[in-house]
Amino acid sequence: MSKFARIIGTGSYLPNKIVTNHDLEKILDTSDEWITARTGITERRIVTDESNCDLATIASKNALEMAGINASDLDLIIFATTTPDKIFPATATMLQNAIGANCPAFDLQAVCAGYIFALTTAEQYIKAGSANKVLVVGSETMSRILNWKDRSTAILFGDGAGAVVLSGDNETGILHSKLFSDGKYLSSLQVSNNKINETGFIEMAGNEVFKIAVSRLSKLAEETLRECGMSTEDLDWMVPHQANIRIISSVAKKIKLPMEKVVLTLGSHGNTSAASIPLALDVAVRDGRIKKGDKLLFEGIGGGFSWGSVLVEY
Ligand code: ACO
Repeated sequence: MSKFARIIGTGSYLPNKIVTNHDLEKILDTSDEWITARTGITERRIVTDESNCDLATIASKNALEMAGINASDLDLIIFATTTPDKIFPATATMLQNAIGANCPAFDLQAVCAGYIFALTTAEQYIKAGSANKVLVVGSETMSRILNWKDRSTAILFGDGAGAVVLSGDNETGILHSKLFSDGKYLSSLQVSNNKINETGFIEMAGNEVFKIAVSRLSKLAEETLRECGMSTEDLDWMVPHQANIRIISSVAKKIKLPMEKVVLTLGSHGNTSAASIPLALDVAVRDGRIKKGDKLLFEGIGGGFSWGSVLVEY
C-alpha cells in the first residue's frame, strides 16, 4: 500500500471554436465591458461536433504521455462531469474504450466541485491499495446545457477537458482533502426540467451563489491550511475552480494570498465546471510555473451545493 497519491502526469484539451464577449454582444443584451468587469471572462471555447468523450480522450492521452505510462497500465478511471454524452453508459466507459484501457471506469457528479471529489476518491483507492495508477478526468460540454437567451448564465461557461494521472508513492503527493455537501440550496443553481427526454438548462441565483461561494471557500481554505499545520505563506500556488474572478480574488484576499500565487485561466476558458481545475493545473505545469515540490491548494464549489479542497505537494 502507498502512503500518498502523487500527480505524475497532467493533460488538457480545449475545442477549437472561440466565442468572445464581442460575439455574445451580437446575440445577447450584454457588453464586453460588463462581462469582463463582473466575471473576468473575455472568451471561452465551445464544442461544434465534438463529444465530451472526444475532449476527454485528447486530454487523457496528453496526461498519459507526460506520466510515461500506457492506458493499459491504468487500474481505474474516474470521470468527473456534469454533462455526460449519454444518460448511460457512463462517459468513463466510452473514454476507457477510446484510449485502450481495460480497467474499471465510472463517472462522478458533483458539478463544479466534481474534480475535487474525483481526486479525493482516487486518493482513497490508492491509499487502500486497491489501485496504483488512476486516471482522473474532468471534462465538460457546458454549452449544451446553456440557455443561449439567458445573459446571466450564457456568458459564464465554456467547454474543455483536463486530466491527471495519479500514482501510488511513499514520499509525497496529496497531503489532505476535505469534502462537503449541503442539499438545502437546490434551487440556487440547477438544471431545470432535466427529466429523461426533456432538455434542461442551467438556472442560477447569481448573487446568492456568489456570497455562498466566497464564504464557504475562504473558510475551507483556512481550515485546510490549519489542519495541515501550514500558513498561507507556505503555499506556492492556489489552483481554484475558475468560476468568477471576483469569487477567486475575494477568497485570496480573505486568506491573504497574493493574486500572483493564483493560477488563472478563467479569462480565456470561462467556467468549465469539473474541467476547470485540471485545465488550469495543466497550463501552469506546462508553462513551468508549477514545479516539483510546490505546495498546491485546489478548491471548488458547485451546485448542490458541494464543495471541497485538496492540498498537494506536486
Ligand atoms: N450583461 C449585462 N447586464 C447583465 C448581465 C449581462 N450578461 N447579466 C445580468 N445583468 C444585469 C442584471 O439584469 C442587473 O440589472 P438591473 O440592475 O437593471 O436589475 C444587473 O446586471 C446586476 O445584476 P446582478 O445579478 O446583481 O449582477 P452581479 O454583479 O451579481 O453579477 C454574476 C452577476 C456575474 C452572475 C454574479 O452574481 C456571479 O458571478 N455569481 C456567481 C455565480 C457563478 O460564478 N456561477 C458559476 C456556477 S457556480 C460555480 O461555479 C461556483
